Amino acid sequence: MIPESFIQELLARVDIVDVIERYVPLKKGGANYQACCPFHSEKTPSFTVSPSKQFYHCFGCGAHGSALGFLMQYSGLGFIEAVEDLANSVGMQVPRVSERVQSDRARKAPLTELMLRAARFYKEQLKASPKAIDYLKGRGLTGEVAAKFGLGYAPDDWQGLQAVFPDYNDAALVECGLVIENDQGRRYDRFRDRIMFPILDQRGNVIGFGGRVIGQGEPKYLNSPETPLFEKGRELYGLVQARQPIRDDDVVIVVEGYMDVVALAQHGVGNAVATLGTATTPNHLHKLLRQASNVVFCFDGDAAGRRAAWRALEASLDQLADDKSVGFLFLPPEHDPDSFVRAEGAEAYRALVRHPTTLTEFLLRELKAGVDLATAEGRARLVHEAKPHLLKLSATVLRVQLTKAVAEAAALTQAEVEAQCGLKPLARGRAAPPQRRRTIEISQLKTLLKAVLHRPERAARLPLEQIDAESPHGSALHAIADAVEHGELAGGSMGLLIEYFRGSSHEQVIGALAADAANEEADAGEDEAVFEDVLEQLRKAELSARIGELNAKAGNQAASLSPEEKAELLRLLAAKTHRPAG
Ligand code: UTP
Ligand code: MN
Repeated sequence: MIPESFIQELLARVDIVDVIERYVPLKKGGANYQACCPFHSEKTPSFTVSPSKQFYHCFGCGAHGSALGFLMQYSGLGFIEAVEDLANSVGMQVPRVSERVQSDRARKAPLTELMLRAARFYKEQLKASPKAIDYLKGRGLTGEVAAKFGLGYAPDDWQGLQAVFPDYNDAALVECGLVIENDQGRRYDRFRDRIMFPILDQRGNVIGFGGRVIGQGEPKYLNSPETPLFEKGRELYGLVQARQPIRDDDVVIVVEGYMDVVALAQHGVGNAVATLGTATTPNHLHKLLRQASNVVFCFDGDAAGRRAAWRALEASLDQLADDKSVGFLFLPPEHDPDSFVRAEGAEAYRALVRHPTTLTEFLLRELKAGVDLATAEGRARLVHEAKPHLLKLSATVLRVQLTKAVAEAAALTQAEVEAQCGLKPLARGRAAPPQRRRTIEISQLKTLLKAVLHRPERAARLPLEQIDAESPHGSALHAIADAVEHGELAGGSMGLLIEYFRGSSHEQVIGALAADAANEEADAGEDEAVFEDVLEQLRKAELSARIGELNAKAGNQAASLSPEEKAELLRLLAAKTHRPAG
């Protein structure tokens, strides 16, 4: 990716006022410039551009960011494109990608190449197989849609791929999951006599395949194994093809199957994607909510579909923001989206998508179904079961709504439910609920977050087990660490990080600190020292806590220390005294 230093240099070179003025007429008012906000409709200007901070902010809708953020938000450019656009405007050359990313890409590039070659081969083979063509036609697909999804056919041949890979013994073929090697060292194609669905990443690279038997057979679908290219819990089938329709509708439909995505597209419902035979993960949600404000899960009407929906609900809770919605659509038990759209047509399907069961409705319905609300015990249990979900829900207004609904069902007041669940009441003047003992102060979390904003790769050094994932700053740190670990912010800058989390539940926390961070004079050395200082404080706190625990146990007659614990205590005490005070 693009080195941090370049982004900083670029942002130092351009003037945000010039950049924005290319699109929006600005009026000077005091130190700043004003305009009617281009991101929401308004009559009095609440959009402000600060030349000194090189930041824009709208007091009406909260839109904010740097010159880069503006380009991305206004013209829908991706981060790299926005950097290139901006660099061109001031005659700067975007430098090559960083070494680390380069080596990561260099490692993956040959595998991606193989996957592409295989996809082309399968596609060619489809043209030559009347049986496969008939199957797809029988399922109502036209050649056009088959081509759009790059569908193919893996011939009924143990080493069919040899036709395009003369070096069939290449280890990379096994590494990317196309070829299997058995215990005797014999190699053969993983996919044989199957309809092939290529799985693309967000850039459009082929990273895996799903292969369906033609007609009956087990397994019905065979999928690529997890490889350096392919991690199931992070990918969504059909996202590349669905991107524009998703943007047009601001809705993304999530279905279970490859065929559901393709059949919906065939009927003109283009905004559907599928999870790949795995449960929906928070990472899926993160990706989805970045593409659209509304996510509708559409699962089969059977028991398995309900379970899948519940898992999706659980993955949604801490990704939601109040301006986003997650809904659930349950089809009649005899249908999946493919059969439904074929039987009832696209309009009937779209009508259902417009009115899904909301997340709160679904959550309450499921919770209520498990208890007897006619008894005090049942009502108590409802609150008990609702508690973890209420605590996890990141959309604060929605949380209040849900709390109210739970209270009503349990015949309690909202305040009573809040107190029972340890939720902070929004009204002032009430006693604060007992706080869990914190090992990390908010100020420390903010310092960590700021340091990570300056250099996202620092997230790899965070002591995540000590960081409370439930707090807003803590959960942002966890999310950044996760993205860094998966190379999604590799070599990236604060600009990339901000744009990556745009539209997510972490946007606000990150945006607020980014505004601070951008205003501070960044001195890389000092910045690192501050970060390291907090890490050291945390290491010490952890050490002291464990020493305290062991000491308490040692002083307790009933539970004296085991020899291992004694040794540990001595070791910890030594470590503590040997560390330089600071
Ligand atoms: P379904 O069994 O609902 O299949 O599996 P489907 O999508 O309706 O397929 P058709 O209509 O019979 O062709 C849903 C998804 O679960 C995964 C696949 O991702 C599939 O699309 N799956 C299913 C597997 O990975 N392996 C299987 O054997 C079956
Ligand atoms: Mn089906």
